[in-house]
Amino acid sequence: MTTTSTVHDHVRSLPADELPAYVYDLAALRTHAATVRDALPERVELYYAAKANPEPEILAALGPYVDGYEVSSGGELAHVAKAVPGRPLAFGGPGKTPDEVTAALEQGVDRFHVESAYELRMLAELARRSGRRIAMLPRVNLPLSDDSLAGSSLAMGGRPTPFGMDPAQAAEVVRTLADGTYPHLELRGIHAHLASGLEAPELLAAAAAVVAWATGLGVPLAEINVGGGMHVDYTAPERRFDWAAYGSGLARLAEAHPELTLRIEPGRALTAYCGWYATEVLDVKRSHGEEFAVVRGGTHHLRTPATKGHDQPCSVLPVEAWPHPWTRPAAEGEHVTLAGQLCTPKDTLARRVPVAGLRAGDRVLFSLAGAYAWNISHHGFLMHPRPGFHFLDAGPGGTARRDTGPGQGV
Ligand SMILES: Cc1ncc(COP(=O)(O)O)c(C=O)c1O
Repeated sequence: MTTTSTVHDHVRSLPADELPAYVYDLAALRTHAATVRDALPERVELYYAAKANPEPEILAALGPYVDGYEVSSGGELAHVAKAVPGRPLAFGGPGKTPDEVTAALEQGVDRFHVESAYELRMLAELARRSGRRIAMLPRVNLPLSDDSLAGSSLAMGGRPTPFGMDPAQAAEVVRTLADGTYPHLELRGIHAHLASGLEAPELLAAAAAVVAWATGLGVPLAEINVGGGMHVDYTAPERRFDWAAYGSGLARLAEAHPELTLRIEPGRALTAYCGWYATEVLDVKRSHGEEFAVVRGGTHHLRTPATKGHDQPCSVLPVEAWPHPWTRPAAEGEHVTLAGQLCTPKDTLARRVPVAGLRAGDRVLFSLAGAYAWNISHHGFLMHPRPGFHFLDAGPGGTARRDTGPGQGV
């Protein structure tokens, strides 16, 4: 899934005052999701971690390829339940409040991922009051002896973190659940999202370690959720996580444990590739020997490069027309740093990009902007206008387009 011509054409067709805009290619998203689903063995369930991108159009487009959705707050729960009604939901995330848990019980979520012993007691009491039996999975923060998480960009397990429970405590919780202390809680299995940004071999090693630990507890378990965390390589936007290798590895794990349902809950590696942040160059200048282009918008819309400390991959759509009577600024050198409109040096989208001759008025398309992008950004800072949102789709008569308009996104 590269920058599709559909996306190029659409961005070229937009008037300048409709930039910046998020442009999503839903057909490309479906193709990618189908590839992921096909690579996984039938017995492995695929949940989408909605936190990566909860736009209703994205959630709906993924619908045919996923078994359910993972939500991590009461807000996500209400939003996803409305966007994709009737689909299975797993409710995880640290610091659930009693009100959120009550809302989730009323909503009838399919799985609770329990993050602590305190949360277990809260859930047990609220489940008792609801009169229902709740399917749940304690989340374990498992250390991996072979340092499998070393390559992770965002480790949530195997070290001190607020996520899940220490193995000893999780084992204790499992025993308590197995001995009937909490009759309103049904122990389904174990949840362990340990890290993000891992390649297939490391993720498989982590999954195998979680399964070995869980099955070694001596308590019958029906399912194990090994989380998400598939790597997205922002330095090589054409590269993809090796879903085929991951799927084969999971198939071997599943065959070794016919009693278990394995579940994964990726976010980033499902949706990153279907979104672009499109904008235009406002100004080009030289500062202390380096060239900068200031683009309309910035990291208050696309925070991903600031949070991950990377250069967001991008391409330029040259625009020949220049509507102003004043001289058009243009880059003189080979490399230009692309910055946004915020009054902070942290508002940098990509450094020293090889875009010789870049001019004000040229358009820039930042790719891999379909996950942890708009919805993790600090939109209010400096009160610039919000971007538009465009969901491109292939309808019966060709490419259909829907604009939700600025500010309608999240
Ligand atoms: C519990 C849990 N599951 C799944 C995910 C999705 O991770 P990723 O987007 O890296 O696949 C996250 C991300 O933070 C998470 O916290």
